[in-house]
Amino acid sequence: MMSSQVPLEITSFCKHCSDGLSGITEDESCVELFRDELPSLLRNKPLFGEILHSLVDGGGYPDLGHSTMFDNELLLHADSSRLFSLRMFLWGPGEYTVIHDHNSWGVIGPVSGALGIFNYKREDNESRDGYARLIETEEVRCLPGETTFTLPLNRGIHKIGNPTKESMVSLSVYGKPLARGYINGFDIDNDRIYKIFAPKSKKKMLAFQALAGLK
Ligand SMILES: [Fe+2]
Repeated sequence: MMSSQVPLEITSFCKHCSDGLSGITEDESCVELFRDELPSLLRNKPLFGEILHSLVDGGGYPDLGHSTMFDNELLLHADSSRLFSLRMFLWGPGEYTVIHDHNSWGVIGPVSGALGIFNYKREDNESRDGYARLIETEEVRCLPGETTFTLPLNRGIHKIGNPTKESMVSLSVYGKPLARGYINGFDIDNDRIYKIFAPKSKKKMLAFQALAGLK
């Protein structure tokens, strides 16, 4: 069983990418770097076999208690200067996220199975609270070793998930997040936009609001 230590392959991949990122600030250049680098990690199935075994056996890595935005998300590495983070996502058959935006650039790809991505464009002028009109612009399918990408805010509205009948694993690298504290979710059928908070932030926010009721 793997110990709670970060596997060497993850540490060395992230060190290599951290070095590569130095001096790069443009979102598109960061995306380009990780689209070059991530496939080597995506093809390392034995490593992800070990990581999944560790999760099943309670090995302590990745940390199941670490706060994440999505409930199928696990943090594999966070860069010490917050330049990027490496995350693993676990998907049951046919499972997809809701349509959402991001606070940073991201590079995404499957380790096993296939990853389905739907990209959207916002068509309204953002003048109405709670209203957003989207059109689907693209459907992408990635096989193991292939990647796609996202960009911050309205430049990267998408829905991703597992189009297959088997459970699968994907990886995402995200850049330094904007200090927004939430992402937007979209209900395309009803032209609605709503905020999604990470469960930990949501609990803190609700606790703060509930304090008023105790006075
Ligand atoms: Fe996403």
